[in-house]
Amino acid sequence: MGCAGTRRGTLVQVARILIVDDDRSIRRTLEKFLIGEGYEVTTAQDAAGAIEGATGPDLMLLDLGLPGGSGFDVLAALADHPLRPTVVVVTARDDMQSTVKAIQLGAYEYLVKPIDIDRLRAVVRAALASRESRAQLVELAARDTNAGEILGKSSAIRDIWKQIGSVSTTRAPVLISGESGTGKELVARAVHNASYQEDRPFVAVSCTALASGVLESELFGHVKGAFTGAIADRPGRFEMAGKGTLFLDEIGEIPLELQAKLLRVLQERTFERVGDARTHSLEARVIAASHRDLGQMVAKGTFREDLYYRLRVVEIHVPPLRDRAGDIGVLVEGLLAKITTDLAKPIRFVTPAALARLTSYAWPGNVRELENTLTRAIVLAKTDVLDETLLQLGQVNPSTEAHATQPAHTPPTNHELITLRELERRHIIRVLASTDGNKRRACAVLDISRPTLDRKIEEFGLRSDKKDDA
Ligand SMILES: Nc1ncnc2c1ncn2[C@@H]1O[C@H](COP(=O)(O)OP(=O)(O)OP(=O)(O)O)[C@@H](O)[C@H]1O
Ligand SMILES: [Mg+2]
Repeated sequence: MGCAGTRRGTLVQVARILIVDDDRSIRRTLEKFLIGEGYEVTTAQDAAGAIEGATGPDLMLLDLGLPGGSGFDVLAALADHPLRPTVVVVTARDDMQSTVKAIQLGAYEYLVKPIDIDRLRAVVRAALASRESRAQLVELAARDTNAGEILGKSSAIRDIWKQIGSVSTTRAPVLISGESGTGKELVARAVHNASYQEDRPFVAVSCTALASGVLESELFGHVKGAFTGAIADRPGRFEMAGKGTLFLDEIGEIPLELQAKLLRVLQERTFERVGDARTHSLEARVIAASHRDLGQMVAKGTFREDLYYRLRVVEIHVPPLRDRAGDIGVLVEGLLAKITTDLAKPIRFVTPAALARLTSYAWPGNVRELENTLTRAIVLAKTDVLDETLLQLGQVNPSTEAHATQPAHTPPTNHELITLRELERRHIIRVLASTDGNKRRACAVLDISRPTLDRKIEEFGLRSDKKDDA
């Protein structure tokens, strides 16, 4: 490589390095070496000089023990510097505390004196290379995502915003259709929030996983003695919803006999608790959702046609994410902002390759899958950059597979041939065990919805004795 300075202004941009050390002989040794490597070099001997000289250089070699403020002070002062150089700490302090602190404060690398010149050469090159590739990263806009905001910019999403606006001025029943994970519940909540100025209850009930009798008392309540086990009066969800919104999720799962009762309630706008004669009037707005095609169920005779039309006064259809790939960019930005806040872990950049993969993938699990994929990526990320190596697309969470060492729920050995159902049961047990019974996290790991997990827990007779989280 040529001499420093001589290439300035030519086609190749020479990287600039600032050496900060109070020891003059070290400054001179480093300077000589780095100039020999072809870099342009400046020096500083104290903290103030380091901060002052920080604009311009691409890289700073920073000693920790400095007069007038430590290297840590320099790192802290540079934290918000928009053009801050990459910092490699070069110090005699060979202890855990200093190392941890320097890295926490954003140092790229921590080298201990005496300097190993080959190592220094490699680190300087790597630091400059990482800086160069950083220039190509997509910086995420600092975004204030309102909780519950339906993100997107496709015409489908814009239409949904408009539909929410118009149904919010009425109390008509709304049916929300769309595949799993498309955001049906989010839409239901948005309708609710847009409908009322003041606080009114939003009561959701999942019609999955409950036997007909249980679901009936869940919906309408019961009085003491109405059936074995009814030891006290209990209000149902219809009552709890009051003048707010009752959200009947997965309405397609309601057994036929209960469909008849529900239809009667919606027609007469009155209901009774199980085992009681007293009548309550239905004041809540009813919103129903299903990932199933209810029209098809009607054709097959598994869903009542009259109930279908009663619920579907207004239908909001949320299309699958693969049909509105244009929403993915905004969703990634918004979801990352939300998840990084939740996890208190900053992600500021996405590599173009990662963004390309996210945009071209078909997302069979829709926005929920996207959200779970990003959550896993952030958990795995070691820096504030999300690159494509962190994306596990279309896999059943290999990270938990690899880390699961639960002898109590042993995966089947190669020659133990079990059914798919048994494999599923064991896997769910394993994941629940690894999330300490936290269903929300288990759903994220399994990449399934909460109603689905609840249904499987019920189906497999798995007792979830751990406290719930949602
Ligand atoms: N357009 C969107 N903007 C922001 N977040 C979204 C959007 N769509 C969905 N989400 C998020 O994706 C996740 C899944 O959404 P939601 O639970 O509403 O889907 P769903 O259609 O009810 O799914 P399922 O049928 O699996 O119950 C939620 O965390 C939700 O906040
Ligand atoms: Mg849902």
